[in-house]
Formats: sequence, structure tokens, C-alpha cells
Amino acid sequence: AQPQVIFSGIQPTGVPHLGNYLGALRQWVKLQNEAPPNATILYSIVDLHAITIRQDPVQLRQWRREMLASLLSVGLDPKRSIIFYQSDVAAHSELMWILSCYASVGYLSRMTQWKSKLALPENTSPLDPSTKTKLKLGLFSYPVLQAADILVHRATHVPVGADQSQHLEFARECANSFNHNFQHVLVPPETILSPAKRVMSLTRPHLKMSKSHEDPKSRILITDSREEISRKINSALTDSVAGVTYDPLNRPGVSNLIHIMYHLDETIADSCEALAGDCRDLSLRAFKERVIDAVDEQLKSVRIKYEELMQPNNDHLLSDISDEGSRKASANANATMSLVRGALGL
Ligand code: ADP
Ligand code: NA
Repeated sequence: AQPQVIFSGIQPTGVPHLGNYLGALRQWVKLQNEAPPNATILYSIVDLHAITIRQDPVQLRQWRREMLASLLSVGLDPKRSIIFYQSDVAAHSELMWILSCYASVGYLSRMTQWKSKLALPENTSPLDPSTKTKLKLGLFSYPVLQAADILVHRATHVPVGADQSQHLEFARECANSFNHNFQHVLVPPETILSPAKRVMSLTRPHLKMSKSHEDPKSRILITDSREEISRKINSALTDSVAGVTYDPLNRPGVSNLIHIMYHLDETIADSCEALAGDCRDLSLRAFKERVIDAVDEQLKSVRIKYEELMQPNNDHLLSDISDEGSRKASANANATMSLVRGALGL
């Protein structure tokens, strides 16, 4: 059988929150640690995707570094995983151009992300008069870049959140149509869906935890101090029902805290329901103290590693890691590109 190639990417948006951690990064680490020895594992900080919306250059530079330090802090090992900035590997953009010559505008119009990023209704067309100047070509076509990110490494397995499965389908479509029209050189990837359910906002528990929500108390960052964790959980929106039960529909706030506590350390109980049972007789105040202890305990080592990596004297360490990652990723991507160019007659 063909050796596995695992690829995934995350945008440089600063330090990840608990949703990113439980929904994505922790699975990346698990895949790294459990992959067969002959598997190639690539994790990219996809900075070219970040510029589909306006970025401040100073901020972006800082966010790239913070994301790299975060990936290392949660347990990605540069000796095992190829960790790199997307913009360091030019082949991603080159393959994107090639794929975009065969991608249909109709298919891309039906994708939903550009509509949600611009807060446009579901039935909007890219050429509606009110849309066409606001909608930039890069935001519209970013699924093609995402397909190129995956296909340029001939990834066999791509771990993503459920919100991304539409884009994976598109990447498979790009690979199949290229292989059909030219030669069989691209690999249609398999999706690995994240097992953890969504982590919800602490302040508005009917919405998912997200960096785009204004209130910083709505999310816990993986590097938050115990004081910050404590302040955020103590101000988390719950309800006035006595005792602790797991009931996401009727008690979203309390259930979200159970969910966070359980998934951070799945050895503490058999399920969210069982964990709620163990905490049943606690007051909400005492229950929150338990959650604070659990979150602090699980994030402590991440925070210590992160603080160390972000010391100015470790700048060279971070840049050595990203340089090595970009060398290895470029070699892998360039091997695909010579096949692609050959197939096209370029
Ligand atoms: P955000 O929603 O904060 O903008 P991204 O869209 O950049 O986060 O997501 C990065 C990764 O983290 C994706 O794989 C996504 O599925 C996962 N993720 C983001 N938010 C959550 C959440 N609240 N719960 C679970 N997974 C999440
Ligand atoms: Na998002």
C-alpha cells in the first residue's frame, strides 16, 4: 500500500482557543504520534489564506510566530512533522493557478464560505451588483488554494472540522478531473473528521467559540494563565437551575463546561453524562472551581512551553524550525509539480 501522507493547515490568527485545540490541534498531535513510521506528516500555517481578508502586516507577522510557537507547545514535534509557513513554499500558489484554469466558477459560486465571511445571504451570486466590488477574487477562489495545499503534497488523509468537508469534496473533484484529463498524478484525499463536538462560546453558548467574537471572555486561549482561566470561567453564562446536569439543548452553558472538562481529559469519566453525574450535587460555584482546576491542569504545560518559545532569545530556534519545515515541504511539493508540469506539457 501507498504510504500515508497526512496534511492539514491552520490560519495564523494568533494563539489558538480551546475550540481550535479540541476540534483540530489535539487531533493533529494524536495523528502525529500514532501514524505509521513511513507516513509523511505536514502541518502548514496557511498565511496566504489569512490575506483573503485585510491584515495589518505587523500583526500578521506576530500572529504567524504565535501560531508556530503554539503548534510546538501543544506537542507537534518538528522531527516527526513537517511544520511550515504556506507562503514559504511557492508550489502551493503555482498549483493553485493551474487548478484554477480547470475549476468551474459555477461550482465555486455554490460554496458558502465567501458568503458567510461577507455576511451575504445564501442565494447571493458573485456577480450581483452589490457584491461584485466587495467580493475579491482571492476570497472567492480560496477553495482552489486549499485544494492546491492538499494536492501539491499528494496528501492521502486530511484531518478537518465538519465545516470544511465541502472544501475537501472540491479538492477531490479537482484531483479527479486533472487525472482524467491528463495523467494520473494527483491523489484524491480522504477526510478525517474531528471526533470532538464543537466547543461553544463561554458568554453566548448557543454560538461556537471563535476568535471572531468580540468579547475576549468568550474564549479561553491555550496559553491563558490560571487567573485568566478563572476569570473567564467564573463569568461564563450558565443558568439558575440547581445542580449539574449534561443537557446541551436546555442547559447549553453548563453542558459546554462539562464538554470542555471531559474532552480535555477523557480519562476522568466515561462520557459527558457520567462526568455531570459525578458533579451532580455541586453548587455551580463549586462546579466552576473544578472546571478551572481541570482546564488549568491540562493547559499548564502548553503555557510553560509557549512562554519559553516566545522569549526573544528563542527567535532563532523558531526560524530554524520553520526554515527546515519549508525545505522539506518544498522538496515534497516540487516532486509533485514536476509530474504536474510534465502531464500538462509545461
Ligand atoms: P475560528 O472559528 O476561531 O475562526 P478557524 O475557523 O480558524 O477558527 O478554525 C481552525 C480549526 O479549529 C478548524 O479545524 C475548526 O474546525 C476548528 N475549530 C474552530 N472553532 C472551533 C470550535 N468552537 N469547536 C471545535 N472546533 C473548532
Ligand atoms: Na472561522
